[in-house]
Amino acid sequence: MDSQGVVATSFGGPDVLQVRRLDAPAPKSGEVRLRQTAIGVNYIDVYIRKGLYRMIEPPAPIGMEAAGVVLESHAPGFSPGDRVAYACTPPGGYVTVRTLPAAQLVLLPDHVSEETAAALMLKGMTAEYLLHRTYRVKPGDTVLVHSAAGGVGLLLCQWASALGARVIGTVSSEAKAELARANGCEHPIVTRSYSFADKTKQISGGRGADVIYDGLGHDAAQENLAALATRGHWVSYGQATGALEPPNLGGKSGTLSQPVLFHYTEDHLQQMAGRVFAAVRDGILKPDVRHRYPFAAAADAHRDLEARRTSGQIVLLP
Ligand SMILES: NC(=O)c1ccc[n+]([C@@H]2O[C@H](COP(=O)([O-])OP(=O)(O)OC[C@H]3O[C@@H](n4cnc5c(N)ncnc54)[C@H](OP(=O)(O)O)[C@@H]3O)[C@@H](O)[C@H]2O)c1
Repeated sequence: MDSQGVVATSFGGPDVLQVRRLDAPAPKSGEVRLRQTAIGVNYIDVYIRKGLYRMIEPPAPIGMEAAGVVLESHAPGFSPGDRVAYACTPPGGYVTVRTLPAAQLVLLPDHVSEETAAALMLKGMTAEYLLHRTYRVKPGDTVLVHSAAGGVGLLLCQWASALGARVIGTVSSEAKAELARANGCEHPIVTRSYSFADKTKQISGGRGADVIYDGLGHDAAQENLAALATRGHWVSYGQATGALEPPNLGGKSGTLSQPVLFHYTEDHLQQMAGRVFAAVRDGILKPDVRHRYPFAAAADAHRDLEARRTSGQIVLLP
């Protein structure tokens, strides 16, 4: 069946993204073909487009999450008309029609729209495992969230605050600080130069952060080390400023994790998605799709994301 794809024609800047005609093959046993109605944009798409994460061989479509409606199913539990979503490898989510293993899919409950699902599958499940599995946030913990007004960042602030943590966040502007504050980040710190350790210590009465959720990497490393509490946990889960060189945490008995969503979903997909959807139902997570782009304008979405012009979640609409 014909499909359209936003394809990385080579590794490089946003201009390498071009719309191409593709084929979505008939589903084999265990597979489903779906028409996608909303596609999530994530920072990992930027790493893959640039060739920083070698997960495609160009020309190939990028994208890790989407939602849509089942057209054809050769898998038990899925029927034409079912509303579904996924966040998975390999890349290939920026397409209008996709065939993929049913094991990657979750059925959407009535209270979750396809647009919300496309915005939440990858970022929401990331917040789920970061707060509940990599490190279990407890009431009273001091949690430092970088890019607190970003796609994952806002969800981390909402959920960590509901868990009873004191949430400190870094953002690059007053407008982002206001947004983060409205979403559970009690103490936003505005900085464009990754300078936040002194304020984190001050806010936490000198102790520092019990856990740091760090999607920044290289340029924030020294400050993260300074901001970490004794026996604190540094969760390095992204590298928007470049790869992190392994820090020496001996001076603080600190621990470091470098977790990846797909190593958690490979065993716990349905449980993780279920907990995210329940958090939406209970008003703990408030997905906020603040940026919608036409499918063919994916390059604009990438330009805005890399230039720090976005906040909250971003979707492409086919
Ligand atoms: N390991 C995993 O399982 C996993 C899963 C999902 C996401 N992630 C990671 O989580 C992080 C957030 O992802 P997201 O999709 O939600 O993106 P995002 O946070 O919406 O966007 C990235 C944000 O990073 C901040 N930033 C600071 N310095 C930057 C720079 N030099 N260039 C670009 N951005 C910069 C910007 O916020 P300010 O303007 O406020 O500084 C920007 O809005 C990324 O590092 C991503 O790779 C990891």
